[in-house]
Amino acid sequence: MRVLFVCLGNICRSPLGEGVLRHLAQERGLAMEVDSCGTGAWHAGETPDRRSVAVARGRGVDISRQRARQIVATDLEEFDHVFAMDRSNLADIQGLATPASTARIALLLEENASEGTLDVPDPYYGGPGGFDHVLALVWDACEAFLDRVDPG
Ligand code: 4NP
Repeated sequence: MRVLFVCLGNICRSPLGEGVLRHLAQERGLAMEVDSCGTGAWHAGETPDRRSVAVARGRGVDISRQRARQIVATDLEEFDHVFAMDRSNLADIQGLATPASTARIALLLEENASEGTLDVPDPYYGGPGGFDHVLALVWDACEAFLDRVDPG
């Protein structure tokens, strides 16, 4: 199974999705190919924001060697699941879809039925809860996704 996380810059939110899902899948012994990208190209080639690196490290997940890249239309053919961090990202991804796009494109937080919000807030300029809140939302949604695809 191939899973792609998408946010705006690919330096704050989607790198956490990539690192957390890879970590949790490994813990469960699940073979999963995980990647992340941004709808924008401003940060292409960069490592994640140090605040994302720090909160991930606090939970035992190393995202420091991931590199940002921009989404390409063929991602929607090569991945099975494409998870958008917010509704703006979702609209941008859907705008790239072609008849060849086979991926299931969805909001990450829709995976977690007990989550009251649909959008993982962009923490780049500081926001409610900041990076700890982002990590908690992403972590719980990744667990819920794995529970669904691998009920054990
Ligand atoms: P991300 O956060 O989409 O979670 O990676 C952002 C990072 C950078 C910018 C916007 C959002 N930016 O405008 O540079």
